[in-house]
Amino acid sequence: MHKLVKNNVSWVGYVDWEMKRFHGDDFSVNHGSTQNAYLIKEEKTVLIDTAWKPHSHEFVENLKKEVDLKSIDYIIMNHGEVDHSGSLPELMAEIPNTPIYCSQNAVKSLIGQFHHPEWDFHAVKTGDELDIGNGKKLIFVSMPMLHWPDSMATYMTGDNILFSNDAFGQHYAQAELFNDLADKEVLWREALKYYANILAPFLPMLKKKIEEIRSLNLPIDIIAPSHGVIWRENPMQIVDKYYEWADNYSENQITVVYDSMWDGTATIAHRIAEELKAASPDTVVKVMKISSAEKDDIMTEVFRSKAIAVGSPTIVNGIMASVSGWLAYLKELKFKNKKAAVFGCYGWSGEGNAILRESLDSMGYEVVEPEIKSYFNPTEEVLSTAKALAEALA
Ligand code: FEO
Repeated sequence: MHKLVKNNVSWVGYVDWEMKRFHGDDFSVNHGSTQNAYLIKEEKTVLIDTAWKPHSHEFVENLKKEVDLKSIDYIIMNHGEVDHSGSLPELMAEIPNTPIYCSQNAVKSLIGQFHHPEWDFHAVKTGDELDIGNGKKLIFVSMPMLHWPDSMATYMTGDNILFSNDAFGQHYAQAELFNDLADKEVLWREALKYYANILAPFLPMLKKKIEEIRSLNLPIDIIAPSHGVIWRENPMQIVDKYYEWADNYSENQITVVYDSMWDGTATIAHRIAEELKAASPDTVVKVMKISSAEKDDIMTEVFRSKAIAVGSPTIVNGIMASVSGWLAYLKELKFKNKKAAVFGCYGWSGEGNAILRESLDSMGYEVVEPEIKSYFNPTEEVLSTAKALAEALA
């Protein structure tokens, strides 16, 4: 593992090559991940963030190879979530008096998680500074709701490194550490997935914070997030991309999302996709079955889409539980400025489409007409409605 970040700053995190799930079982991880932590050895020795609890022993043992733990002057916790703070208890058992600098909200979240109110917490806010010697200092920037109330970033003068924690991260394991050495296609796909699923609910705060950071005119040579690669080649490209994604982002894409019991609703989904392509050949059309794809991968495609078509058969007098759960997650992400259409089969009372429509409408989607509602398997007459639905979406 390459460890030198710049001058006296090195990477001391954990590469989670085997990670498949994150946030319990909730989030799918396709290319592993990292928990990045950083060690600064100026006149003062500073540790920024730690690793997830299951790796705490290895993290602390590896850290001992880099530095005498007792020589660590300050620990900076940019965020209290356990993937970055989980090694604190094992570390603090060895150096219990080391001061921890974090936001006021992180004091609360760290005590809430680890029950050590006696740790030497120092709450900091935007503009607070810590002198680390050799003419360099750390400046703290509060980042509330990006993505927790306790989140902050730390800027290091002299080397011009922004330790941004979760912001600008990706779940992407890579031994080479830096963005210029990454597989660009994987890097951008994972950066977008991370953004769409983790940061999208907080877009208004994100936009304001990016404007605030830009207005400070700080020279930024490196952005060092807490997951995935470090941005050293044109580091502002990820900031610019975040800003673009925060502005009612969509591509010329339409995604058909559905689940199906006995394939009737699947037949409609496929016909809608064909008609979308016929109505707008330049539009990227994707079809995703909720029970076959990871919900966060579907959300990444929905985030990229200007419109979606959502289908479920009616079951009893509701919709499929898989679709209900997916819609609950969609609501959480607060995507804006997208059209939607609904479709589904029924055999009894047929409330499915109305439930889909009401749900999407309540989230702010512009739900178009017509919908497609089929009594059991769709006839050609029913399927022919897909042309008008596709034209309304495209
Ligand atoms: Fe990577 Fe919010 O923790």
